[in-house]
Amino acid sequence: MFTSVIIPAAGFGERMGASVSKQFLTLRGKPILIHTVERFQRCNEIAEIVITAQRSAFARIGFLVSEFHLTKVRPLVEGGERRQDSVANALNVVDPRADLIAVHDAVRPFLHKKILLQAIEKAAEYSAAVVAVRAKDTVKIGNDSAFVEKTLDRSSVWIAQTPQIFKREILVHAYMLAKEKNIVATDDSSLVEQIGIQPVLVEGSYDNIKITTPDDLEFAEALLRRFEG
Ligand code: C5P
Repeated sequence: MFTSVIIPAAGFGERMGASVSKQFLTLRGKPILIHTVERFQRCNEIAEIVITAQRSAFARIGFLVSEFHLTKVRPLVEGGERRQDSVANALNVVDPRADLIAVHDAVRPFLHKKILLQAIEKAAEYSAAVVAVRAKDTVKIGNDSAFVEKTLDRSSVWIAQTPQIFKREILVHAYMLAKEKNIVATDDSSLVEQIGIQPVLVEGSYDNIKITTPDDLEFAEALLRRFEG
């Protein structure tokens, strides 16, 4: 089984309010992006890593890739305007031998290997797998004026994370359809759902946070102690 991972890292990180994109902020002296890539570099089941980035960051990432001996990383791919565009660009260069393609946010460095392996296994079995956690809070749908429209039944609410892993043909087909029909989504599973596939949910961990705001960075420092001692 040949599994590729796409790591979109072309975001600007406006919500962080820092002058540097969030994937380059450091945890214990190492950029978040590199912590993330190392999770896949060290996993034997992953054959190649495709990173999308802004062209202005290519030299910097190239330097880090060789400094940290990230041998599975393929030539960098330029990102697009939205995350979806960045993933679409990466899909064009994934190795044709890939059976499965995983997509994982550059800013989620705390992925447990056990969960990654479970997600790969489930994707191989069911064609599409999404790592997610059960909602701890009750989720409300609000209207434009911030009044509650609807309350979801918490027992069936999951919060989607990454990795999201798919059989290659399925993800390629989903992205083709999205382009054709101008479908916009914030995760890959949504696009796959649009072609009538029902991904399986793989129970993940609350550790697998997406580092988005400055508060997350403090929490991330604490999580890193748990991960690396
Ligand atoms: O902020 P957001 O949830 O969109 O970011 C998720 C991931 O997608 C981040 O790793 C970010 O770098 C990446 N991204 C991208 N291209 C964009 C926007 C976000 O690769 N245009």
